[in-house]
Amino acid sequence: MMGSDLGILEEALTKLNVGFAKLPAFSQDIDLENLRKVMLETATAMHNNYPYHHPNYFGQMLKPPHPIARLAYMLSLYINPNNHAIDGGRASSAMEKECIQKIGVMFGWEQPLGHLCSGGTMANLEALWVSHQRRDGIIVASEQAHYTHRRICGVLKIPFKAIGSNNVGCMDVERLKIVLEKEKVSTVVVTMGTTALGSVDPLIGILELQQQYGFLIHADCAYGGYFTLADNLELNIDRQFQQLQQVDSIVIDPHKHGLQPYGCGCVLFKDPRVGKYYKHDSPYTYFSSESLHLGEISLECSRPGSAAVALWATMKMLPLVRGGDFSKMLSKNISTAIRWHQFIENAPHFVAGPKPSLDIVVWAFEAESAQEASVLAQAFFKYAEQQHLYLALVKLPTVLFPKYADSEVITCLRTCFMKPEHEKNLDQLIDQFNKVVDDFLSNQN
Ligand SMILES: Cc1ncc(COP(=O)(O)O)c(C=O)c1O
Repeated sequence: MMGSDLGILEEALTKLNVGFAKLPAFSQDIDLENLRKVMLETATAMHNNYPYHHPNYFGQMLKPPHPIARLAYMLSLYINPNNHAIDGGRASSAMEKECIQKIGVMFGWEQPLGHLCSGGTMANLEALWVSHQRRDGIIVASEQAHYTHRRICGVLKIPFKAIGSNNVGCMDVERLKIVLEKEKVSTVVVTMGTTALGSVDPLIGILELQQQYGFLIHADCAYGGYFTLADNLELNIDRQFQQLQQVDSIVIDPHKHGLQPYGCGCVLFKDPRVGKYYKHDSPYTYFSSESLHLGEISLECSRPGSAAVALWATMKMLPLVRGGDFSKMLSKNISTAIRWHQFIENAPHFVAGPKPSLDIVVWAFEAESAQEASVLAQAFFKYAEQQHLYLALVKLPTVLFPKYADSEVITCLRTCFMKPEHEKNLDQLIDQFNKVVDDFLSNQN
């Protein structure tokens, strides 16, 4: 049952009110009867959703916020701080700075410059905007990098090139080297957890090339960043994550694996001196304090202080430490994905994609051709949804599925095991899935 924790919100609100008890009493005119009516209508309108909060939803990257994040966000909405400036969000700006410092420490940076923002796209935009001011040249990212990088470069009018990826969806270092020989590359974007596959680019090899070619490295850890805390990454993947300290900027999305509601991305820079690129005049803000206002180091102006409050509270309850409860959740995500991958490998009607590095699994239907397998995947996706199993589709290069060399791309099924509940529900999901597959295939014949 959703919402069983609301009593705690009421208690916390009473405590919040204590802080403002010296102000004259005031009341808001609210038509409670109408409020109730519209709220119930709103709940009904929200039925038209996939059940993102339920373990039967394991399609796209969607993870429900932790109850502490949800409650802290709702609590802070009664103040509704704006973290653009300390003028608008005193407590929440301090909370944001504390979160940034702790996320930095997770990657091995004691004093990074950074801030929260609306999401991975905005965070990557700022990182590429800064790196372009630091160095001239093109920006490159792997074919499997999020499409946002190409689009951002379009917006910023920076030349962009995609580097081919290998048969497990990681940037091909040899192909990167060829481009570095021919072009002036300012920044290499490494993706630590790609959107389609959760594959992790070979940061160690890219750092070696950096010695020779002297580019900046930006790590898009929007999806995968928190996995740096997991204790069951494959050794080679773990080694790549442990090198993140060496890169110039990092993006991580607390609204993906950090248990936050949407509207919570984060960008970090190793060298705080890059703050100079953000310098701007502001005739209306920054009056209330000599300390750094977050708007002085971010491109967005008004921003929800509530996002910082929710993240701060979550990190109090679930600190970013290896071996802690938060890191154990991530380790479970990985082991659940590996179990699902093994199940698919042994299932008669499917061709498994690469072994998952994180918690995303892709697989294709067994068929005569890529075209036929793609049609089956699309039909199965729709059929499974009708049976309350919610998966996702992804178009991938067939280099990941050598059996299907008859085409360049194939449409596959994709699942993200992001929820802590997925582990204990996996056997039940497998049983349900097997039944849905049997029914689907018998309908096909
Ligand atoms: C690796 C990666 N980078 C960037 C993004 C874009 O982030 P957002 O959707 O928060 O803007 C995503 C989203 O899935 C992602 O997976």
